[in-house]
Amino acid sequence: MKAVDVVIMAAGKGTRMHSSMPKVLQQLGGKPLVGHVIDTARALSARHTVVITGHGAEEVEAALAGQPGLRFVRQMPQLGTGHALQQAAPVLPEDGITVVLSGDVPLTQADTLQDLIDATRGEQLALLTLEMTDPSGYGRIVRQADGSVQAIVEHKDASEAQRAIREIYSGIMAVPTRLLLPWLQRLRNDNAQQEYYLTDVVKFAVADGHAVVARVLRDPVQVAGVNTPVQLAELERAYQLRTAHALMVQGVRLRDPSRLDVRGELTCGRDVEIDVNCVFQGRVELGDKVRIGANCVLSNVRIEAEAVLQPFTCVDGGSEGVTVGPRAAVGPFARLRPGAQLGADVHVGNFVEIKNATLADGAKANHLAYLGDATVGERVNYGAGSITANYDGANKHRTVIEADVHVGSNCVLVAPITLGSGGTIGAGSTITKSTEPQSLTVVRAKQVSIPNWTRPAKLKK
Ligand code: UD1
Ligand code: CA
Repeated sequence: MKAVDVVIMAAGKGTRMHSSMPKVLQQLGGKPLVGHVIDTARALSARHTVVITGHGAEEVEAALAGQPGLRFVRQMPQLGTGHALQQAAPVLPEDGITVVLSGDVPLTQADTLQDLIDATRGEQLALLTLEMTDPSGYGRIVRQADGSVQAIVEHKDASEAQRAIREIYSGIMAVPTRLLLPWLQRLRNDNAQQEYYLTDVVKFAVADGHAVVARVLRDPVQVAGVNTPVQLAELERAYQLRTAHALMVQGVRLRDPSRLDVRGELTCGRDVEIDVNCVFQGRVELGDKVRIGANCVLSNVRIEAEAVLQPFTCVDGGSEGVTVGPRAAVGPFARLRPGAQLGADVHVGNFVEIKNATLADGAKANHLAYLGDATVGERVNYGAGSITANYDGANKHRTVIEADVHVGSNCVLVAPITLGSGGTIGAGSTITKSTEPQSLTVVRAKQVSIPNWTRPAKLKK
């Protein structure tokens, strides 16, 4: 088997996106379009992956800089797809098979490309083609009477009869590099667009007596490109449906596969249930029997077995991540921020915000509360309306609440502070000093009642 080298064309401008961002960096499923193409190259175990940049080259190269094994070649100015390949020629070893892809065609599947590579048998040009009801704008596949491929004729150069052909070139080919390189040198731009057409290599192959094979694809989504925001949204939906189906095949129960958005990597255990309109970003791991209610937005979080997220819960793990322990119950309307770590059986209720705080097994904060920069012990009960005052205007300080503490409603815990284990904090207290274990601490004015009190009356004029 010959080595596979992938060339990804990404120099075009993308005028119709009406965006200041280079087209190939537009996001699909939370990843740049070209990122999907790079992943496909990786799935083919490509030896070299060459990205041809032009418009917004610096931005594209910077965005992809972290990815191992990529080579960038610049194409300035952009004189056509053949000209683009000419720029890559110096870095393509003769002994390989070159696969030509586009940075704005994100959903091609690796097995489709592997079939195309196999179709070259290491010695012939293989084209991926498609039958379209409206082929206008595309290069037409011109075949001889015996069915063999003779040429690709671009729409603008095609005769009326050729324009009636419905088989089009997808923009994807696989070709033995030792054949490709001399063909690239023979390209001319004497055509309607005065561009160097990569598609002219078909004519050279036929002239040189090399067979040209065409593989006809049945699934247009795999070769659909993004030129407009409408097409981007259409492909986003196609991608999400594909993702939803893959999850269901693994056993995940989605209440409605058309109302799911995965913008990153979602991994699920057995018997996971996901209600409608949930968004998953970054890395999200759901353990066995986890249930996610409607309208949750989750990013960078690990949720362990049998935990339940009620509707409208927001989890943003950021770079630190969030963990939700087994059987925990979170929401509705809860917010977990970076560094929130909930143990087993923890309850976090409505309008509770947790940031950079650990809640040990069985701790509960059920209503309207804030826990930031805190260490909360086992079985602590944290009352409604209570907050950690963790920020003094300059620095953040930690609050430690030891096991079995009961914090009443509407308390302000001014950090740094430690509440000793088993202690009780009376409702409405502002606590500024640490408390002893098993003690009751109350900081508020004593209740006073004046009997038979008459309210002031309005003065008569
Ligand atoms: C090309 C094919 C056409 C095919 C169509 C499928 C040629 C001459 N024509 O059309 O037969 O039906 O794709 O979509 O190849 N690019 C560069 N540098 C350039 C020009 C283009 O990197 O100088 C990149 C674009 O960014 C894009 C890809 O190449 O990712 C294809 O270019 P595009 O202009 O969309 O395709 P066409 O040339 O119209
Ligand atoms: Ca073009």
